[in-house]
Amino acid sequence: MKYFVKNMECVESTQDEVKKLAEDGDREGLVIQALEQSQGRGRQGKKWESPAGNLYMSLLLRPECLADDVGQLAFVSGLAVSSALDVFLPSTHVRTLKWPNDVMVDGKKIAGILTETSIMSGRVEYVVAGFGVNVELAPEGAICLNDANGRENSVEGLRDTLLESFLRIYKVWQERGFASVRKAWGRQAHGLNMPVKVSMTEGDVVGTYRGIDEKGWFIVEDKNGNSRYIKAGSVFFL
Ligand code: BTN
Repeated sequence: MKYFVKNMECVESTQDEVKKLAEDGDREGLVIQALEQSQGRGRQGKKWESPAGNLYMSLLLRPECLADDVGQLAFVSGLAVSSALDVFLPSTHVRTLKWPNDVMVDGKKIAGILTETSIMSGRVEYVVAGFGVNVELAPEGAICLNDANGRENSVEGLRDTLLESFLRIYKVWQERGFASVRKAWGRQAHGLNMPVKVSMTEGDVVGTYRGIDEKGWFIVEDKNGNSRYIKAGSVFFL
């Protein structure tokens, strides 16, 4: 796969721009990058503030995989961001991956990833992987790259490094499956063996975080020593 970037100034959401082109049959590898977004969105219907200065882009993928395995791309994406940050940040800064797909630096969120999938008759039509990386600005409690490394980083430079990392890890995933991605992700898992609460629509689970299983589900060990496997939810370390 090769990527090709289309630049836009201000859009509602780069996710929607890529979706429109995906519906028109555009190829895997299409990237839309915007300087600003007026309706940037995050996971679980949250707004993603998108003022000029940060990286906002969405990548079109057409993976040949089962609908059940699409969630694995969130881990591929998280690893790609983390690997790109290796180029920009001295190793004294701790990079961790917070399940399912936040990238953290020194315990604070630097990037968020949103994967949205179109499935038709049980078949994956396309996936849009959206990346928001704080380069110049960060919301309260989060961190941006310029503050982390004390430099004025190029958004385009970060974009290209991230896309190169993504292609490399995506190829590993396509050729060797989820196991090696899971292993690499697990080495950077944020909050491993820490007390945690996971909120789901069906209620909360409290216990100790024990990593991710072979499907990418979040494992919580409850106070009785039983493992609970969680497919989707919000994680709060206690
Ligand atoms: C999250 O942490 O909740 C995910 C945030 C994803 C934000 C990116 S910015 C580019 C793309 N366009 C969007 O509207 N969202 C994603």
